[in-house]
Amino acid sequence: MPDVRIGVIGAGRIAQAAHLPALARADGAQLVAVCDPSMKLAGHVARRYEVPGYTNIDDLLADDAVEAVIVAVPDRLHLPLASQALRAGKHVLVEKPLAGTVAEAETLQEVAVETGLHLQVGAMKRYDPGVQHAVHAIQNKIGRILSATVWYRVMSGLRPSTEATLFPALVVDENVRAHEAAFKADREQYLLTTHGAHVLDGMRYLLGDPTALSAQVARCGDDFSWHGVANLVEGGLAHFEITANVHAEWSEGADIYGENGYVKLRTHFPFTLRASDVEVFDEASSTSERPVFGDSNAYERQIEAFALAVRTGGPTSPGPGDGLAAVKLIQAVADSVAQGGSKVTL
Ligand SMILES: NC(=O)c1ccc[n+]([C@@H]2O[C@H](COP(=O)([O-])OP(=O)(O)OC[C@H]3O[C@@H](n4cnc5c(N)ncnc54)[C@H](O)[C@@H]3O)[C@@H](O)[C@H]2O)c1
Repeated sequence: MPDVRIGVIGAGRIAQAAHLPALARADGAQLVAVCDPSMKLAGHVARRYEVPGYTNIDDLLADDAVEAVIVAVPDRLHLPLASQALRAGKHVLVEKPLAGTVAEAETLQEVAVETGLHLQVGAMKRYDPGVQHAVHAIQNKIGRILSATVWYRVMSGLRPSTEATLFPALVVDENVRAHEAAFKADREQYLLTTHGAHVLDGMRYLLGDPTALSAQVARCGDDFSWHGVANLVEGGLAHFEITANVHAEWSEGADIYGENGYVKLRTHFPFTLRASDVEVFDEASSTSERPVFGDSNAYERQIEAFALAVRTGGPTSPGPGDGLAAVKLIQAVADSVAQGGSKVTL
C-alpha cells in the first residue's frame, strides 16, 4: 500500500517533540507539508524535514500532495481547523481533546460523519503496548472489576530538564507563546482539560464507560489535584486522581482488581517512549506475567494505525465517539466540582 501523505497543521511543541519525529519513522505514512502562521516555526520545520512550509492552512489544504492531516493546534482551534480539513477532503488525526467543549466535540463528530472521512483523536496512550496488554487482560482474564485506582501526576520542577533531555531541539516563537498564555489563564480549566483528556480517555479504555461520577478539587498555590470516584457498569468503583503538578517524579498508573486477579500498570513520562510496565496476576494459578515490549513509541504507533485505517477503510481508535465521550467526562468532573462534589449521572 502506498504511504498516506500527511500534512501537519501546527508546528508547535507537540508537533516538533512528537509527531514530526514519529512521522519520520512511521510505516505507511509520510510527511509532505507543514503549516503554522508563525513564519519562524513553519520555516524551521519545513527546512528540517525538507517539505513545503505554509503559513496559511488554506494553502496546505489546497496542496494535492496532502491526503490527510495531523491537527496539532491549541484545543479551541480543533473544531474549526479539523472541520476545515475534513471539508477539504482530508482525513484527520486531531490532537486530544477532540475539541474544547462538549458542543464543539459533537459538531466535529457530525462533520466527520457528513464527510465520511476518517477522524482519529490523538489519545496516543491507547497505542502504548503495555496499556493494550492491560486492556486485553481486563477483558479476558481478571473477571468483573470490583475496585480500580487510576492516577496521573505531572511533575513540576523536574519537567523542564527532563524534557530538555528527551525532546529534540525545539524552536520556539515567543510571540506565539505569549499569545497562547492568555488562553491558559484559567489554570484550573486548562489543566483539567489538557490532562483530563489523557486520564479520562485512559480510564474509559481500561474500564469502560462509567455510569456516574463525583469529583472534588484541591488547590495549593498554582497546583491542582482532582480526586473522583466513577461507578463502573458492572457495579465496581474506580478512584481517579489528576494532579498538576506534583513536586516529585512523574507518576502514572492503574491498579485494577477483578474477581479472578489483578492488573497493575505503571506508565512512564510519555516522551521516554517506553511501554508501560504491566503485571497480570491470575489467582487460580497463583502466577503473574510481566510481558516485555519492543516497539513502543506510542506517537509513532498511533500514526501507523491512523494510516492503516485510512488505507483499509477500517475504524479509527480512538474515533470521534471516543473523543466526545472523553470530553463529556471532563465536563462531568468540572460539573461535579462546581456542585460541591455531588454525583453526576452520565
Ligand atoms: N498527546 C500529547 O501527549 C500532547 C502533549 C501536549 C499537547 N498536546 C495537545 O496538542 C495540541 C497543541 O499543543 P502544543 O503544546 O503543541 O501547543 P503550541 O502552542 O506549542 O503549538 C500550537 C501551534 O499551533 C499553531 N497554530 C495556531 N493557529 C494555527 C492555524 N490556523 N494553522 C496552523 N497552525 C496554527 C500555533 O502557531 C502554534 O505553533 C493541544 O491540543 C494539546 O492539548 C498533546
